Amino acid sequence: MGAIRNIVILTGAGVSAESGIATFRGPGGLWEGHRVEDVCTPEALARDPALVHRFYDLRRAALRDVRPNAAHTALARLDREWTGDLLIVTQNVDDLHERAGAERLVHMHGELQSALCAACGVRERWTDALPPETECPNCGTFALRPDIVFFGEMPYHMDRIEAALAAADLFVSIGTSGAVYPAAGFVQMADAYGADTLELNLERSAGSGFFARSELGAAGELVPAWVDTVLAAQSTQSSPMSR
Ligand code: OAD
Repeated sequence: MGAIRNIVILTGAGVSAESGIATFRGPGGLWEGHRVEDVCTPEALARDPALVHRFYDLRRAALRDVRPNAAHTALARLDREWTGDLLIVTQNVDDLHERAGAERLVHMHGELQSALCAACGVRERWTDALPPETECPNCGTFALRPDIVFFGEMPYHMDRIEAALAAADLFVSIGTSGAVYPAAGFVQMADAYGADTLELNLERSAGSGFFARSELGAAGELVPAWVDTVLAAQSTQSSPMSR
């Protein structure tokens, strides 16, 4: 493997766990007490909009009580200091990466603090409760919903993500169980394009076998250490002494 220039990072709920946000596939397989199909599918939204809206209202309100942790801060530092290409692809719908300062970031599963109009497709920043049948400020219909990619819907930014994976020298997956596609397939895509692959996760995941290396531990410890290593290698590569 030659010098690394292009990095793609995939993050999942494990990155926000140390900030106090529950992961999806914890003990019992429930997400904040709900089965995922009761709150995270188009069918659930159609069947019981009040439940789905209330569920995401609570998640959105909970963002006020959490802060970025050492993993978010380290990735934001990497974003600031890494001179090559970098894309942080998060599956998380919280805003902790951007609150830490990350900018080269896409939310592939949507964002809690965004509302999507199912009628006209407009997106609005939304920080308060979003009751069912809230009027869309753009088209005036009553079709605003949480801007969350439900199961069965197409994740966002796929063209940009696939282009970044095709150009990546290194793909790093942090805090994700590898249970949900297409994100779970990014490691194989990056590998097929010739990237090195690294997993940082609390425990072995469904995808561990696809990575060249897996390091097990808490993101709050593993990520800052990994970022230190990558930035140190960058300064060695760019130092005149190493030419
Ligand atoms: P999961 O809850 O499936 O997996 C979280 C992973 O993080 C697990 O493998 C944990 O072992 C690991 N983990 C927990 N605490 C950690 C820590 N402190 N440090 C490092 N790793 C830790 O969450 P995701 O893989 O993100 O989709 O779930 C993927 C998607 O499924 C989500 O984006 C969501 C859900 O349905 C939507 O909302 C559309």
